[in-house]
Amino acid sequence: MRTINEGLQQRIHTHYGPWALVTGASSGIGKVMAFELARAGLHLVITARRGEVLEALATELSAQFKVKVMVVAADLSTDAGTEQLFQRTDSLEIGLVVANAGYGSSGPFVDGNLSTELNMLDLNCRAVLQLSHHFSQRFKAQKKGGIILLGSLVGYQGVPNSAHYAATKAYVNSLGEALAIELKPEGVDVLVVSPGPVHTEFAARANLSISQAITPDTVVVQALSALGRKNTLLPGFLTKFLSFSLGFLPRWAKVRVMGKVMEGMHAG
Ligand SMILES: NC(=O)c1ccc[n+]([C@@H]2O[C@H](COP(=O)([O-])OP(=O)(O)OC[C@H]3O[C@@H](n4cnc5c(N)ncnc54)[C@H](OP(=O)(O)O)[C@@H]3O)[C@@H](O)[C@H]2O)c1
Repeated sequence: MRTINEGLQQRIHTHYGPWALVTGASSGIGKVMAFELARAGLHLVITARRGEVLEALATELSAQFKVKVMVVAADLSTDAGTEQLFQRTDSLEIGLVVANAGYGSSGPFVDGNLSTELNMLDLNCRAVLQLSHHFSQRFKAQKKGGIILLGSLVGYQGVPNSAHYAATKAYVNSLGEALAIELKPEGVDVLVVSPGPVHTEFAARANLSISQAITPDTVVVQALSALGRKNTLLPGFLTKFLSFSLGFLPRWAKVRVMGKVMEGMHAG
């Protein structure tokens, strides 16, 4: 498993400490992110719905890295969840927010469950908007901070058979790209991380069968080294290769190709 080196630990600690907030920290990319930020010596607020999983992670992180870890068990697809998170973090000196919690869906749009799609919209977009707005105000006031948003490669064109998930990630990619420019003069670094397939719990929830994928540690190590240096990251060779291959096609053809790929990955 890849980890961040000492030079990067120092840079992250100096620029984005003393506290970091990671959403969706109970598994996958968010869990690895929590480990690497703790390795850099940052105190952590970790949030997701599964409180017991977060409590176990907090015990492990604080024992291994001697950092403070606050657990906030909350459903961020609700206003009550985001409000609870803002209240609990109000008095902490947070320097980095990783808006990572999210999930996907696949299959024909017309057959999808509307309330699931609305919930996904609330988590993938509405909560990301709320977090970005809240913390960009705080970071502007303190003239320093970092925001990492988890977009996706699927957000760069329409994707038949995952139409609405791809649309939620187009929102994140676009919001983050623009905020990176707006907030730079305020001393705030924004990075959009847009992976292709990653081996996590994501595929099972999205009803996808993923064979080729990168690991979450690749995403996290590359994201932390890109923060403050780039506005957008396509992590890992596979993501870059897929993006490069699609880059030769006109947009209408990209949509068709991605639709075929997603049809093949949909687990039925
Ligand atoms: N894996 C991929 O192929 C891939 C590719 C591109 C982008 N991404 C993006 O990367 C991000 C992380 O996904 P992952 O791959 O690490 O998937 P994951 O292992 O399924 O992790 C998703 C995290 O989000 C949390 N979460 C889900 N619903 C939530 C809710 N309503 N409120 C609060 N937290 C919630 C989950 O925790 P609880 O269940 O405990 O709430 C979990 O910690 C997502 O935004 C995803 O869209 C993933």
